[in-house]
Amino acid sequence: MVRLLPLQANLKNNPIGLAAGFDKNADILPLLPYFGFGHAEIGTVTPLPQGGNERPRLFRIPKDRTLFNRMGFNNLGAGIISERVRKAKPLLPSGFKVGINLGKNKLTPDADAALDYVKAARSFLDTADYFVINVSSPNTPGLRALQTPEALVPIVQQVKGALQESGREIPLYVKLAPEMTGEPLMKLIQALESAGVSGFILTNTLGGVYIYREKELPGGYSGQNLSSLSLERLLEAKTYTSLPIISAGGIMTVEDALKRLKAGASEIQLYTGWIYGGPFFAKKIWKVIQRSIP
Ligand SMILES: Cc1cc2nc3c(=O)[nH]c(=O)nc-3n(C[C@H](O)[C@H](O)[C@H](O)COP(=O)(O)O)c2cc1C
Repeated sequence: MVRLLPLQANLKNNPIGLAAGFDKNADILPLLPYFGFGHAEIGTVTPLPQGGNERPRLFRIPKDRTLFNRMGFNNLGAGIISERVRKAKPLLPSGFKVGINLGKNKLTPDADAALDYVKAARSFLDTADYFVINVSSPNTPGLRALQTPEALVPIVQQVKGALQESGREIPLYVKLAPEMTGEPLMKLIQALESAGVSGFILTNTLGGVYIYREKELPGGYSGQNLSSLSLERLLEAKTYTSLPIISAGGIMTVEDALKRLKAGASEIQLYTGWIYGGPFFAKKIWKVIQRSIP
């Protein structure tokens, strides 16, 4: 077993998280605080294990500091992942938060989606510091169609019901796509706020296609190409709600990170910026933030 040195860094109020999809199966969870993260979002976790889409399914586009992915919620399933999180928790420094990003299995019809979110959540009632309902991945057919008040409010209500079984207050966030804007976004945010969500994660990847060997592959773009859109969504959503908003999408520099926090993000999350910025990118941001805290 690997022995970890005690972590010296102060994690209190560290607003930098690892976005969902990097440590889908909680493989490296105990190591993440050492890289300067204050929280990590595990998953997307589905109730049953699934293999995801066929490879290749992740592409680097270095000239644009962008990634394109069509992973399709490959993960080991809620049973195995919740065991891993249970084992990792005692190794994490106090103040480090573990989020669980919930999804539905590909073969579950949209009409039964709520059941999948509830099932996956139930496995983590003793370990999650917060939950996220993910309805914004472009890689699970039909998933984004759940981004309406009619579809999403009942899911939120049922997941909240399950969370009450934990006997503690576990925050519940909803993660939305960058394409959501204008009246549909306003109505959705207002309906979800009334349904009692704790906040929002904006945004997931930007849906699109990537040409690979003359074939058009559908999937999602992240990184630099998403940066201005993600900031726009944060600013827009701030006009609809005063609930916390975790900003993700194209945070590629320390300046990007500071800009999001200044724009009112309660926290920020990195994925593609960590890939292109190197292993200690989060640590670099955290050092600058700490210097600016009196
Ligand atoms: C390879 C890859 C896999 C991802 N998987 C998930 C996922 O399983 N669930 C999810 O909510 N978001 C997932 N995301 C989206 C990220 O969490 C994040 O919202 C998005 O990439 C925008 O942030 P970024 O520009 O810093 O990468 C994934 C992103 C990438 C690049």
